[in-house]
Amino acid sequence: MAYKGKNRIVHILESEDYGKTVTVFGWVRTKRESKNVGFITLNDGSTIQNLQVVIEGSSMNEALMARIHSGASLKITGELIPSPGQGQKVELKAGAVEILGEANPDEYPLQPKKHSLEFLREIAHLRFRTNTFGAITRVRHAMIFAIHKFFNDRGFYNIHTPIITASDAEGAGEMFRVTTLPSLNPPLNETGAVDFTRDFFGRETNLTVSGQLEAELAALAMSLVYTFGPTFRAENSNTSRHLAEFWMIEPEMAFYDIHDNMDLAEDLLKYLLNYALEHCPDDLDFLSKRQQDEEKNKKQEDRSPMELIEKLKFVIDNKFERISYTEAYEILKNSNHNKKKKFQFPVHEWGIDLQSEHERYLVEKHFGKPVILIDYPKKIKAFYMRVNDDDQTVRAMDILFPQIGEIVGGSQREERLGKLLARMKETGIPEKQMWWYLETRKFGSVPHSGFGLGFERMMLFVTGMGNIRDVIPFPRTPLNAEF
Ligand code: 4AD
Ligand code: MG
Repeated sequence: MAYKGKNRIVHILESEDYGKTVTVFGWVRTKRESKNVGFITLNDGSTIQNLQVVIEGSSMNEALMARIHSGASLKITGELIPSPGQGQKVELKAGAVEILGEANPDEYPLQPKKHSLEFLREIAHLRFRTNTFGAITRVRHAMIFAIHKFFNDRGFYNIHTPIITASDAEGAGEMFRVTTLPSLNPPLNETGAVDFTRDFFGRETNLTVSGQLEAELAALAMSLVYTFGPTFRAENSNTSRHLAEFWMIEPEMAFYDIHDNMDLAEDLLKYLLNYALEHCPDDLDFLSKRQQDEEKNKKQEDRSPMELIEKLKFVIDNKFERISYTEAYEILKNSNHNKKKKFQFPVHEWGIDLQSEHERYLVEKHFGKPVILIDYPKKIKAFYMRVNDDDQTVRAMDILFPQIGEIVGGSQREERLGKLLARMKETGIPEKQMWWYLETRKFGSVPHSGFGLGFERMMLFVTGMGNIRDVIPFPRTPLNAEF
């Protein structure tokens, strides 16, 4: 077929090889026809721009044209000519037009008009063919690539941590069970419970909620590691920021304290935003216009105060605010918002878990920039976080972003065996099951830290999209696993 790099539409549009004969491939976005001339815009996913194809003279064949509609796939050989139209240098004067696959206009659901994001979720198998999802898909790829580049350039090793796990110690959320036992009449033990010793792994197993615990094992030998894998949470939260299956970047660093950890996380986020600005300008430009269109339909107070690209630059240029949970608590408690009872969850007692509305208040109203919160009450954080000298707080760190709320969660880890055991007892984590994790604290334990960046939360921020279901190709949410 000869679809090899050079004739991808992104390259054709950059070339000025007027007079050259090329063969292009792609899907029809629009078709217009007048008496002796037809115009087709063709897209092959390589760019947000379409290639304009002109069909006239002997190439103009009415019978053929009648079979070409939006969504059809074509192979066209023709001559590159300067474009009289605005916005592109070059267009294609068609010679041979071959239809690879037709698309019946009475059935094809994507018409050349604006479709709602809700409708597009129902046709997720076709939504890659829209400008919005083409742009998101390319930006998503760029971000994946940039994440690996960031860590590789800094000497980190990528670790594949397991997806099926027998430990449910993270406590990060409800888990999905993995089993080969029959769902009807599974074997039972003496107590009447399901007998998992007869299951595939001889024990109860689940899909992982995080690769952290295994990444820690690797970090305590390789020093600098990261995992970037799918994670699963069966929490029934139907929000615009939660998925049941999402991707998480989890670096883990030996010899890093909480401050080194914050520096790395801030660097990573800024690096990714920079990378997007540099490598995806056309797509971000499109997404910015899309967002501005969308904003017009929103209430004034829900509108984003900044245009997308300006917002990304603003985050890159400003140091994130770093404050303790206690300081944040005081700010929230004393805020007019709280006094006027405008929070759904009032802030009245030190120790409460912060809700998304509190996080967003701090970021959007109080500081006007990303915030890193540290030193949370130990009661609301996981057992593995290092306990501070006050014995009330732990070296946790959450990074809060505008419109998103929590984008990163991490901590310095508890490296002292005695303290770790005490925390496990306090939080009811079974010691026996975690023997392998504990051994790293017995043998050559070192201070170490890490964090988890939710990849789709980051994608929400970079693309300016409002719903997490629209930044992953095939979202998994409660009652939704169609594609
Ligand atoms: O704060 P979380 O639960 O942290 C952990 O899992 C740690 N083990 C990470 C670590 O220290 N290595 O999750 C980390 C991030 C959150 O800040 C959020 O961005 C994202 O993962 N996240 C979700 N993203 C989409 N859907 C969900 N249901 C998410 N839950 C968490
Ligand atoms: Mg968290």
